[in-house]
Amino acid sequence: MPFRYIRWRASEFSSETADSTAAGFHLHFYEDFARKETRISFNEKKAIMKTENLETIARKLVAPGKGILAADESSGTIEKRLKSINVPSTEENRRMYREILFTTKGAGEFISGVILFDETIRQKSRDGRGFVEVLEQQGIVPGIKVDKGAKAMANFPGEKITEGLDGLRERLAEYRQLGARFAKWRAVIAIGNGIPTRTCIDANAEALARYAALCQEGDLVPIVEPEVLMDGDHTIERYFEVTEQTLRSVFDSLAEHRILLEGMLLKPNMVLSGKDCPQRASVQEVAEATVRCLKHVVPAAVPGIVFLSGGQTDQQATEHLNAMNQLPDLPWQLSFSYGRALQAPVLKAWKGEATNVAAAQQAFHHRALCNSKARFGKYTEEMESAKAA
Ligand code: 13P
Repeated sequence: MPFRYIRWRASEFSSETADSTAAGFHLHFYEDFARKETRISFNEKKAIMKTENLETIARKLVAPGKGILAADESSGTIEKRLKSINVPSTEENRRMYREILFTTKGAGEFISGVILFDETIRQKSRDGRGFVEVLEQQGIVPGIKVDKGAKAMANFPGEKITEGLDGLRERLAEYRQLGARFAKWRAVIAIGNGIPTRTCIDANAEALARYAALCQEGDLVPIVEPEVLMDGDHTIERYFEVTEQTLRSVFDSLAEHRILLEGMLLKPNMVLSGKDCPQRASVQEVAEATVRCLKHVVPAAVPGIVFLSGGQTDQQATEHLNAMNQLPDLPWQLSFSYGRALQAPVLKAWKGEATNVAAAQQAFHHRALCNSKARFGKYTEEMESAKAA
């Protein structure tokens, strides 16, 4: 029996219920042994961390009607994105592209935060203002991706482990100095023949929790992103099962590392049919399965859940978010932290031409507006044609 399981079982029993029988003694012993590591009162946590600040920023990021833009593509990923519109990935082109997004007029009405990459947080707009300042002037909170990418996991073919814990405390301090108020770390779980393994899930969960602890220590709100990939022919039922198992392991590790749930955000995948699955789940089915899965595992103390788009089209990602926000009794804010689903139409409109900048910004504004409406369950398909008009 894995140690983690014993600990979880033991913590179901309070010390009052443990009696002096042999079994009772064992339970008591395990509980004491296991829980004294994680037992820390809310007030103690408040004394250790600047919790007020963490809680305020976390809530601001999921303010009603707003969500996050993930513009933290690593050098390799942004190269792919720019290549798709035949634009070479030079530092200046990457800077220009990000400037289009960040200087879009009125973006702050729908966008609460932007996740930056190491290169981007140090760049400036053409008028000489740093990107951090540009965002702050729009009322947008700057954030930073701090993981070093998902690498092949030794001894586990087809599985990945995210790296970047070494030196993280120092890097976080520098980013905080540069103006970042929150951070992101992405773990990747693949579904396939015989995978994911428990080992891969738990190793990634442990890394996420260690990252989150360092963030809270360094006064940055951690966005915890365990992404179960949609690649493959898995059914929605299988996707549900793996997502639930992954989130269970993540919240178990977060508790062990004494994470303040009120001062973090979760960034999960939605539960849908795998990309190549012949049976396609409807929008309503996706919304219900995703919320049911999250309700099984995510504590209500977490202020918000900000979904990744993960390869859905921009419109699908909006429709799913909208349907979820129409469901009753949601204990958390349900929002977005989209990369591709916010940027695809912008790239398509821009094509690297200065004359297309206004159209690209209009496309971004429109996509952000649609997702803002979806936060209230008030998005309709007609809004798509409003853009063309
Ligand atoms: P996508 O919305 O394109 O999946 O990107 C979100 C993200 O930040 C992945 O880490």
